Amino acid sequence: MTDLHALAAKYGTPAYLYDLDRIAAAKRDLFAALPEEFDLYFAAKANPHPELLREMRAQSPRPCRAEISSLGELDAVLEAGFTGAEILYTGPGKTHIELTRAIACGVRLFSTESLTDLRHVGAAAQAQDTVAECLLRINSASAAASTSIRMTGTPSQFGFDSETLADLRGELEAIAGARIVGAHFFPLSNAKDEDSLLAEFQHTIGLAAQLQERLELSFSYVDIGGGFAAPYATPGSRPIYDKLRVELQSTLDLHFPGWRSGRTKFACESGRYLVGDCGRLLAGVVNLKESRGRRFVILDAGINAFGGMSGLGRLLPVAVQPQGEQELTERASLVGPLCTPGDILGRDVDLPALQPGDVLTIPNAGAYGPTASLLMFLGRPAPVEIAMRGGEVVSASRITHVREAADAR
Ligand SMILES: Cc1ncc(COP(=O)(O)O)c(C=O)c1O
Repeated sequence: MTDLHALAAKYGTPAYLYDLDRIAAAKRDLFAALPEEFDLYFAAKANPHPELLREMRAQSPRPCRAEISSLGELDAVLEAGFTGAEILYTGPGKTHIELTRAIACGVRLFSTESLTDLRHVGAAAQAQDTVAECLLRINSASAAASTSIRMTGTPSQFGFDSETLADLRGELEAIAGARIVGAHFFPLSNAKDEDSLLAEFQHTIGLAAQLQERLELSFSYVDIGGGFAAPYATPGSRPIYDKLRVELQSTLDLHFPGWRSGRTKFACESGRYLVGDCGRLLAGVVNLKESRGRRFVILDAGINAFGGMSGLGRLLPVAVQPQGEQELTERASLVGPLCTPGDILGRDVDLPALQPGDVLTIPNAGAYGPTASLLMFLGRPAPVEIAMRGGEVVSASRITHVREAADAR
């Protein structure tokens, strides 16, 4: 059993603890939930920590590929050992500089979000005498699943509108340097339950088959996206998807006969499911105060350390994990140290009796932690990130920011 207080005393707080053994378990569960023929991409945005990325690439139980959307993520995944051939480059704002470097590093698979994005990818590939394999990202006009984070069905920077895609057929085919090999979908994150997730995948696979026909193309690669759920900053376990594998197989048999022999290869993507439960955040109590009848616990970790993509103004459902026999007898707002009223980790959180110097543990904090936070705001150091395996510390490090001279372009 990890002695959290000893770690907090040794490395200081705020500190993230990542248990690498849990990543292997999450990979095992997710690969088991998918047909064996599927590729699985780890979305580096969920947590690009070097040890976590290396774990994703590990053979045990099977290696993930990497989904990235920036040069920072490209560097991180290459450093962790991924090759260009194992990378999918996505995102609505790919610049010429990014595309040029990604192609020079051997990346060939790109998700493209519009005709102009496709042209940009093609031009960058052509300039290096190569051809990029492009997936058309689809913004489906309709949807199936329930979730709080949906990325399709409305006007959006993401993807081609499904209902008008076929009108672009001639133009899509005429882009030098870009070969259309298939489609990419990422309609939602964090699906409510297995039935919702399955319904969305069924919808996606049916739409992929229709689009293939309307475009008179034969897709060799279809990334059906994700939506695999994980608790975020609250206690609880990742869902185990028992039916998904068999149901996906029969949906694919219906719409893509020949997929089993590899005529069309399928892939899924996940961030939070693969890393969410490997992480815990240890936050130190700096002060306690009462204001007009309300209690505030002031922590050394706020939206600068655990922002939950704080720029989105989303309040996380933060809960605290009691240690040992501790009882949750108090209720207070958990706030961070920043000089902004927006620095709130949770309102009306159940807590043990606390005093300055105590350390709180926020569970399931492995996804969208430091790199999804306002790390530089107000100039506090980034949290320590401690990677552990078999109960032993493998590494302890923190992100730093360095100001450097910018070369004129
Ligand atoms: C294209 C794409 N892939 C994967 C992910 C990862 O999502 P999640 O962490 O919910 O699995 C996202 C999240 O926004 C995404 O936009």
